[in-house]
Amino acid sequence: MKKFKWYENVVFYEIYVPSFCDGNGDGIGDLRGVILKLPYLKKLGVGGIWLTPFYPSPKADNGYDISDYRNVDPEYGSLSDFDELLETAHRMGIRVIIDMVLNHTSDRHPWFQESRKQRAGGKYRDYYIWEKEVPNNWESFFDGSAWEYDMQAGMYYYHAFSRQQVCLNWSCEAVVRECLDILAFWLERGADGFRLDVINFLKTDRSALRKENPVVDGIIQHVYDKNQPGVIDAVRRISKLVHSYPEKYLLGEVGEEDMELLHPYMGKGLLDSVFQFNLGSMRKLDAAYMGEQIVKMEAAGIYPTLFFSSHDMSRHFNRLCEKELWKAKLLAAFLLTAKGIPFLYQGEELPMEDEVLNGSGDLKDIQGRYGFEKKKKEGKSDEEAFFYALERSRDYSRGMMDWNRVNEPESDSLLHVYQRLLELRNSHASLRTGSYEGIDFSGESLYYQRVGNQEKIGVYLNFGKLNVNVPVQNVLLEIQDEDGNLKGLIRYE
Ligand code: NOJ
Ligand code: CA
Repeated sequence: MKKFKWYENVVFYEIYVPSFCDGNGDGIGDLRGVILKLPYLKKLGVGGIWLTPFYPSPKADNGYDISDYRNVDPEYGSLSDFDELLETAHRMGIRVIIDMVLNHTSDRHPWFQESRKQRAGGKYRDYYIWEKEVPNNWESFFDGSAWEYDMQAGMYYYHAFSRQQVCLNWSCEAVVRECLDILAFWLERGADGFRLDVINFLKTDRSALRKENPVVDGIIQHVYDKNQPGVIDAVRRISKLVHSYPEKYLLGEVGEEDMELLHPYMGKGLLDSVFQFNLGSMRKLDAAYMGEQIVKMEAAGIYPTLFFSSHDMSRHFNRLCEKELWKAKLLAAFLLTAKGIPFLYQGEELPMEDEVLNGSGDLKDIQGRYGFEKKKKEGKSDEEAFFYALERSRDYSRGMMDWNRVNEPESDSLLHVYQRLLELRNSHASLRTGSYEGIDFSGESLYYQRVGNQEKIGVYLNFGKLNVNVPVQNVLLEIQDEDGNLKGLIRYE
């Protein structure tokens, strides 16, 4: 019988550090704030947290541009705050995984400062990808050319994201060793694992630079600039180091929605999990699609991650639920009763809503700002440029967590339903590690049973006009819409 790991038995909660909780009153979330809210997370039933980057950074991309990998940004606290956070969380039985960005560094990182000064052959020159001429048509994922001319070096450097996020050269052995040392630094401090940012984008194959990316309908496709030959070996080396420490969890952000491209990164000696974007980045609520994906993942023998929101996408309360509370309750019921590792995003339990952006002045996220600049350069009006940027911006889900809303929850509040669902999941092994039986989806309904530990729990969800119509007996949880119609039922079978 498969032995399940700790991370397959907990519910994670993503903390976007700058907007979670401000512990020192300067208006910005910080590590002290996280410590203050650990009791809230414990009460919710969370067993693991994922902290987004808190390292020193110029914050061109809110910390995904690291300038010092072994410290805490003063805006977020200090190393001793981190240690205290870890110790307090561990004492409460909450594990802590931390975001790690190894694909690129900030352009202010000392390695890059040295690299741009040095000539070929210098120690740091090869840490990044330099070319005398722009070698290909590759574009940044944030718009515009991926190549930036650097006056000091007199050459172009490669950046898959913003020009302030310079891609490391993973075909340089010294880079690999530096990165492994950084991971060891945080593991020694007691971190329980990592969420590896855009890990399939590591640049491991310089010969790929000679290949032009295909253009479809005028849009350059990302083909040769990711999933390069050599990337799996790089992941293997990371995994070997991380798993030389006991009980560590390695989760990768593999920027793909296609399940077949996601899964080569997972398995023994590789990543323990990837984010299942095949399910997580659904654009509209689609019960049949959800059903198909769980059937597919089951057939592939995968213990997946489960999520519908993150700091990179519109909140699912807006995107999928059309701001209807009962739909948010049904999706929560799915997240917390399906097979896999649920990742809640801060505030989805309240629910927080998407931020409203009224004009270009509200665009904080670099991807939105880049989009706006791009369209302005093309001669578009402010209005047109803003419209384009709205599609690209990731500001929606990054609003400050509204703690005023966390009062004693009313019995039918969403928070109460989340709490109850976490309680059910934490107390019923069948909901965590049990197998599926009778997965059934038709129209807008989705039904399944979870079986294990000598019990069988049925989950009945109807996202459409119809109600759930199975006998309401042996009930664990009922979900009704505002007119009292039965839309969800969890019961012993
Ligand atoms: C994925 C992160 O989630 C996102 O916020 C960031 O902009 C990119 N990686 C680049 O680091
Ligand atoms: Ca603060």
